[in-house]
Amino acid sequence: MALVLVLGFQPAFAQPDGKAIFQANCASCHNPLKDATGPALKGVDGRVPNKEWIYKWVHNPSGVIATGDKYANDLFNKWNKTQMTAFPQLANEEIDAVVAYVNSVQDKAAAPTGTSNMGDANAGADNNSWIYTGITVLLLLATWVMWRANKALKRAAAEKAAIPVTKEIPWYRNKFTIVLLTIVVICFAGYWLVNGAVNLGRQTNYMPKQPIFYSHKVHAGINQINCLYCHSAAEKSRHAMIPSTNVCMNCHKQINQYTGADEHKLVTAEGKEINGTGEIQKLYKYAGWNTEKKDYNRDAQGNIQATSPEWVKIHNLPDHVYFNHSQHVAVGKVPCQQCHGNVEEMDEVYQMAPLSMGWCINCHRQTNVQFATNNYYQIYEKYHQEFKEGKRDKVTVEDIGGIECQKCHY
Ligand code: HEC
Ligand code: HEC
Ligand code: HEC
Ligand code: HEC
Ligand code: HEC
Ligand code: HEC
Repeated sequence: MALVLVLGFQPAFAQPDGKAIFQANCASCHNPLKDATGPALKGVDGRVPNKEWIYKWVHNPSGVIATGDKYANDLFNKWNKTQMTAFPQLANEEIDAVVAYVNSVQDKAAAPTGTSNMGDANAGADNNSWIYTGITVLLLLATWVMWRANKALKRAAAEKAAIPVTKEIPWYRNKFTIVLLTIVVICFAGYWLVNGAVNLGRQTNYMPKQPIFYSHKVHAGINQINCLYCHSAAEKSRHAMIPSTNVCMNCHKQINQYTGADEHKLVTAEGKEINGTGEIQKLYKYAGWNTEKKDYNRDAQGNIQATSPEWVKIHNLPDHVYFNHSQHVAVGKVPCQQCHGNVEEMDEVYQMAPLSMGWCINCHRQTNVQFATNNYYQIYEKYHQEFKEGKRDKVTVEDIGGIECQKCHY
């Protein structure tokens, strides 16, 4: 799907557009200049073992890790075992173009552009606020030094002129210093308070224990069950939904054992081994399935006696935010993995993305909509005209209003 996204906007000539490929595939996790979900990519060709390594890595990161490659494993551990998405569809030339693009990106802080942007308030905060804090502290220090120097000079001049000097108040009792220090303390405290408040409720890497050890790796990975088989609502509605045990029982009336332990042992994050067959028994309990009768337990009226497992919800947006899966999955053709990571490689699902406002907005700035192929966008005559005249080669989500406050907030 990511490929379609890229190809849709590839110019006809052969030269791959590194920037477009980067933005469509990599930008959700990488920034050229600063660490994000993955490392800052500028200069990456200088630090990896060799050029071939980059191709292999991008085509199949977990494969490279599995070979025991030291560089890959060190990196993977350093990034808290965050799985990078595999991009087997990217040609080596396209990867070269991405590397050339990230290497060409210049630090904006060095050349301020003056554009004000709300979204970066979150996304860029990590970096910029430190620069600003540093500059502020330096300026305050400089002021203090200059003030001291001025005082000393005045005194020297007064002594020379033999004017009697009043005894100097020590610096820590000086009103000016006290006011200055108070301001600095208030600024710092305020910064931490606001930052803490904004991060409340954010749960990157959240991985709760679930009532059944249900492995996405076993189902969506090894057995290649399509995400939409269970989360079909993601294409049609706002919520992706967790499937009911009926859906599980479509297969598990037959599959009553986990026989895959030789190829893939089930282990919790804490290293505890799990008996897959035992977990299937838990499913039967919830579903009300009697393995001996090979039928559901029923009450006198013939109703199935089932309860639902209380799955712990992992991804949670605050109530004031509107997010719609079908808009992203069906219309935007955004792959699940871009927001949820490689779920098909996870035994236990965890939250990969920060789900912050900066995260949503950055993606809306960088991602192209399926403009050429989606009839819905016929109404944007101006953009179509600009395409024809060659003034425009892409339409981002931002261009169709995707960063207007009311699109995401009630
Ligand atoms: C789902 C998030 C994600 C996406 C999408 C992603 N990456 Fe990564 N990438 C990572 C993470 C995380 C790492 C660090 C290693 C690890 O934990 O697997 C990484 C590491 C890398 C490295 C090695 C960096 C180093 O410092 O040695 C390269 C090169 C790389 N990615 C290139 C790409 C390219 C090119 C794309 C787009 C085609 C891309 N990545 C898309 C998450 C991602
Ligand atoms: C056989 C059914 C099944 C398939 C196939 C499946 N899932 Fe799931 N998914 C579940 C169940 C059950 C849960 C709840 C338990 C859990 O969180 O692990 C779940 C939970 C999730 C969650 C966490 C939801 C939350 O609580 O925030 C995400 C994200 C997710 N699935 C994505 C995917 C993706 C992406 C795929 C395809 C690669 C996929 N699923 C394939 C059954 C399935
Ligand atoms: C553009 C980002 C994005 C994409 C693409 C995406 N999701 Fe989600 N997903 C989210 C967010 C954000 C939430 C939290 C929603 C909430 O709390 O209302 C979520 C929640 C979920 C949940 C928890 C139940 C629910 O609906 O709230 C499941 C399951 C899930 N996603 C599965 C999927 C699957 C499967 C796909 C691919 C078919 C997918 N998602 C694609 C962002 C995304
Ligand atoms: C499309 C068929 C299919 C569906 C639907 C399905 N499973 Fe499975 N399940 C499998 C297969 C195949 C295996 C692996 C069996 C093996 O390797 O012997 C498996 C294994 C398991 C296991 C043991 C491995 C593990 O993940 O812990 C559990 C538990 C399990 N399934 C629970 C569920 C639950 C809960 C659901 C519903 C949310 C579900 N399954 C839906 C096909 C399915
Ligand atoms: C991985 C990229 C990505 C992320 C992350 C993302 N979106 Fe989007 N979003 C898209 C794309 C692509 C579209 C365009 C879909 C279309 O063509 O209408 C879109 C469209 C939208 C729209 C409709 C905009 C309009 O003008 O019609 C809303 C609302 C929206 N997203 C909300 C959110 C929220 C809220 C979040 C964060 C929780 C989020 N999105 C995260 C890619 C993303
Ligand atoms: C693409 C979707 C999107 C757009 C557009 C958007 N927001 Fe948000 N906003 C979010 C999300 C998601 C959160 C929740 C962040 C969290 O929980 O960390 C949020 C949170 C907030 C908060 C609560 C403080 C916080 O960081 O949690 C305020 C205030 C806010 N937004 C104001 C605005 C204003 C003003 C605009 C217009 C300039 C705007 N938003 C546009 C998605 C969006």
